[in-house]
Amino acid sequence: MTASAPIAIIGAGIAGLSAAQSLQSAGYAVQLFDKSRGSGGRMSSKRSDAGSLDLGAQYFTARDRRFVEAVQRWQARGWVSEWTPSLYNYKHGELSPSPDEQIRWVGSPRMSSITRGMLGDLPVHFSCRITEVIRGEEHWSLQDSEGTNYGPFCQVIIATPAPQASTLLAAAPKLASAAASVAMEPTWAVALAFENALDSNVQGCFVQDDALDWVARNRSKPGRENVMDTWVLHASSAWSKQHLDTPKEQVIEQLHGAFAEMIGCSVPPPSFSLAHRWLYARPAGAHSIGVLVDSDLGIYACGDWCLSGRVEGAWLSGQEAARRLLENLQQ
Ligand code: FAD
Ligand code: NAI
Repeated sequence: MTASAPIAIIGAGIAGLSAAQSLQSAGYAVQLFDKSRGSGGRMSSKRSDAGSLDLGAQYFTARDRRFVEAVQRWQARGWVSEWTPSLYNYKHGELSPSPDEQIRWVGSPRMSSITRGMLGDLPVHFSCRITEVIRGEEHWSLQDSEGTNYGPFCQVIIATPAPQASTLLAAAPKLASAAASVAMEPTWAVALAFENALDSNVQGCFVQDDALDWVARNRSKPGRENVMDTWVLHASSAWSKQHLDTPKEQVIEQLHGAFAEMIGCSVPPPSFSLAHRWLYARPAGAHSIGVLVDSDLGIYACGDWCLSGRVEGAWLSGQEAARRLLENLQQ
């Protein structure tokens, strides 16, 4: 099989971009599609009155040698920096320091710097929600929610969360049902900004509580220029599921309350707040799928849900998709 047309990649998160970079380096033309206005997916950052906020991925670790090397390249380009927060743990109502030796990375000056750097000059259609992936006699075409068609493409990579991938995989029913079997759980994220810095040494905190799961002080991350003292709170999966349709104001109020209880200092009403619901934040369990492949058809699905449910897993799954696709084209 040869590449008679470009390769379509649906999803410009880190998995889709990881695949795109590999395929471009191997000399193949790719075209990316994303329903959002920019790249990054769950690694994107939101510009707000309180500065740029990482509402999704907070930091990442690199354990696989290939990913460690990629992170070193990103560091050399200034896209990532090491984050060394004063870490705490909150359990059974007790807040205690919890330092460790783990190396943690963040995008610099914001999480989205990584995927923006990876995107470079790759061709991409933003604000383009793909609704159908159609197999013709020889090629693939895509249709978006406005009814516009794109194509022809020789191969297609779907790099979206599993529930979204399963609907796009209708042409490959086995892959569609494999993706449909991966459940993903929601996370409510809330940002709170205070004019005067809170009297606390906490910069990151793992929380084992009903409501909260994680708390981070945004300006403790390198390169952040937040004027206000801005905190990002993540609710636990269980709480987020129970409050899936709770109005944002109530989510902010309840998580503000839980934060005030755990942080152990006086917490005034915030001068700025926002809430964001990630519907497909993380896979419910660990998987070792790597990538879903139908090499006869030339369709692939990748993403964090195929591996560890973390940034590293998403990047590795994108690499695996590109590797399997190249093998297929070079046969
Ligand atoms: P995504 O980033 O979800 O990218 C998929 C892309 O596909 C999105 O841009 C989306 O807009 C697009 N898309 C979906 N459907 C369509 C469609 N029909 N048409 C066109 N485009 C479409 N990981 C860590 O390692 N450390 C952390 O601290 C951490 N914290 C997290 C906290 C939260 C709240 C969340 C939500 C995630 C966190 N993660 C963390 C997980 C990490 O963010 C993800 O594992 C990783 O970013 C997933 O990348 P991906 O490319 O697989 O998917
Ligand atoms: P990591 O090694 O820092 O953390 C893994 C887990 O180990 C943590 O969740 C925490 O429970 C525990 N832990 C680590 N260091 C600790 C310390 N010093 N004190 C107390 N507990 C500690 O990072 P890794 O493995 O890269 O995991 C990424 C993080 O991203 C995890 O915290 C995970 O929960 C989070 N995540 C959140 C998502 C969400 O939707 N909220 C989605 C995907 C990942």
